[in-house]
Amino acid sequence: MVEVVRGREVTVTFDGTRCIHSRNCVLSHPDVFVPNVRGEWIRPDARPADVVLAIGRNCPSGAISVTRNDGTATSDEAPLVNTVRIRENGPLAFEAELSIRGVPQKGPRATLCRCGHSRTKPFCDGSHAAAGFTATGEPPAREFTPLESRLGPVNVEPQPNGSLKVTGNLEIVSGTGRTVNAVRQVWLCRCGQSRNKPYCDSSHKAAGFVAD
Ligand code: SF4
Ligand code: FES
Repeated sequence: MVEVVRGREVTVTFDGTRCIHSRNCVLSHPDVFVPNVRGEWIRPDARPADVVLAIGRNCPSGAISVTRNDGTATSDEAPLVNTVRIRENGPLAFEAELSIRGVPQKGPRATLCRCGHSRTKPFCDGSHAAAGFTATGEPPAREFTPLESRLGPVNVEPQPNGSLKVTGNLEIVSGTGRTVNAVRQVWLCRCGQSRNKPYCDSSHKAAGFVAD
């Protein structure tokens, strides 16, 4: 379900199918994203345009997109540093000039399933919580050489019944913000079974993981 709410200065688009219920929006700005209210719950005019744009940039899943009505700014600009953040007991949160299966995404942010249980793979749908998925958000750092360029296109190619193959300049960042690796190509676990998360160690085969 996609809601589009046009305010005086900005238009907010909310894609409920992408929301992972991190609640950044309703906790930081309950005047703009009003929880538990009848009628319109998105109120773009409750705060200055720059504040509403920042709410969009802080939405990890890409569910929220904010654009100035005069076209001069959007929360969907690609970042200066491509990252994937490892969320404790949760998904892989990408922020990059992102394509999935070669299809450019509308915005730079997406949370992708790494527990294996989402019904909307490759996206996270929050199933990790009900599944009781546990995985650290603080994997050990590997030795890496700093990237020559930290931006540019990143493509995620879900492998049939296997990992997420990611190609492009990408920094892998822990939940507390440590860069634990910098890669130009990597295979990330999405079955939830690897003993070397966030990396694939081929455990998906023994686990009989099935995914497109
Ligand atoms: S994922 Fe985005 S839209 Fe969903 S609760 Fe978090 S900040 Fe709000
Ligand atoms: S996808 Fe999980 S081990 Fe390969």
